Amino acid sequence: MDSFEFNKFAGALLATLLFVMGLGLFSDAIFSNPSPHHPGYDLPGAEEVHGADSAAAAPVAVPLPVLLAKADAKKGEALAKACATCHTIEKGGAPKSTGPVLAGVVGRKVASTGFAYSDAMKAKGGDWSYEDINAFITNPKGVVPGTKMAYAGEKDAGKRADILAFLASITDNAPAFPK
Ligand code: HEC
Repeated sequence: MDSFEFNKFAGALLATLLFVMGLGLFSDAIFSNPSPHHPGYDLPGAEEVHGADSAAAAPVAVPLPVLLAKADAKKGEALAKACATCHTIEKGGAPKSTGPVLAGVVGRKVASTGFAYSDAMKAKGGDWSYEDINAFITNPKGVVPGTKMAYAGEKDAGKRADILAFLASITDNAPAFPK
């Protein structure tokens, strides 16, 4: 066997070895079998326990009076910029055609300004308590189906409380916060 022949054999052998090693690495990657974090099988009940855990970790609804007690009218004023696209929020400000004046709204009779309210709002009745405004601005169309208020709602209860505190600040003789 001359050295050229030998090199061919050696080369072929090396290539085969490399190929086999590569195959091993490759199949390890495909069929990787990570060892479980804790030995044993997961029983069906285990999932339910996890579910219960996350339910317990979900935020518990804080009652409105508690939120109002620590609400910040200044933050509410900034948040009410979203309302001001449709509503007048300045005391004594000129009404807009896009929404009733919000200054003075707390405790006011529902649908009682010169605004062209929807029939749904006219039919609602009652006065705007903090609780009612809170519910309405959470989900306007859900609470007053047929309302003209094209606002998706503020889902954050803390932010709603800030807005309510601001509405109180632009209402003369605003009712006291609920206890
Ligand atoms: C896209 C415009 C729009 C936005 C934004 C909007 N509103 Fe309204 N809002 C309306 C309209 C229109 C009505 C009248 C609804 C009806 O007649 O059905 C209304 C009615 C109300 C009423 C009842 C007033 C009354 O005189 O009975 C309250 C309270 C109110 N909005 C609060 C808010 C607050 C607080 C925000 C901000 C968090 C807000 N709205 C954002 C358009 C808007």
